[in-house]
Amino acid sequence: MEPKVTIRTLREKKARGEKAVMLTAFDAATARWAQEAGVDMILVGDSMGNTVLGYPNTLPVTLEESLSHTAAVRRGSDRCLVVGDMPFLSYQLELHEAVRNAGRYLKECGADGVKLEGGRTMLPLIRRLVEVGIPVMGHIGLLPQSVLKDGGYRIHGRAEEERKALLEDAAALDQAGVFALVLEGVPRELAEEITRNVQATTIGIGAGAGTDGQVQVLADLLGYGGDGYLPRHAKRYVSVHDIAVQAIQAYCSEVRSGEFPDQAHSVSMTPPSR
Ligand code: KIV
Repeated sequence: MEPKVTIRTLREKKARGEKAVMLTAFDAATARWAQEAGVDMILVGDSMGNTVLGYPNTLPVTLEESLSHTAAVRRGSDRCLVVGDMPFLSYQLELHEAVRNAGRYLKECGADGVKLEGGRTMLPLIRRLVEVGIPVMGHIGLLPQSVLKDGGYRIHGRAEEERKALLEDAAALDQAGVFALVLEGVPRELAEEITRNVQATTIGIGAGAGTDGQVQVLADLLGYGGDGYLPRHAKRYVSVHDIAVQAIQAYCSEVRSGEFPDQAHSVSMTPPSR
């Protein structure tokens, strides 16, 4: 059996120049798929809000929803490093409350760490979490929880001022002790520069190939939700939506024709002979 992936595994991978693979998952079944396929880290992303819970974006996801899905993912994967993604307003209000909420991912769900969005404004919280022993994954660049404030999703860091700010954010979060840093929607040259400058494992999404690892949203990769919007950085490897609809159509038609259930899928008064 493969050994459990830990923060030390990530450090060793970075030192060896080996890529780390992260994928989102949202329940025990999808966590098992990810683990069996060889994923290193599972992010129970708040992207579950718009990909599987039917919300328009990540903002409505509640702490209780996120905790429940994180616990399910942990039940489906004992080897991957599991990270709970703290939802909007579960960590931005008060430090004390944020630490308590973050701790619930470890205590109640068996997660290996938490992720939160934001740069230097998050430093007091990140420092406190690291101090009490809660591993933190940072997230800078395009921040989905700021979609309303930003007026949509866009690339961050092309303008010099933004580029500098992101370099400073990355350095500050690294200093504060994040074990990994998601770089979302940033130019690949900037992602490479940050990756060279920090000790944390950088995980890119829409940030080119020069980061220490990559993350993708499972629903994008599997075509889980049909032909809906696919971000430019995402690659659809299969359409699980189409496969599922075809299978369900076959079931509907067999029920209507009387073909299902046949004798093999029903029982009679006479028990089967051994
Ligand atoms: O929620 C999520 O899936 C994420 C990834 C896009 C990094 O935060």
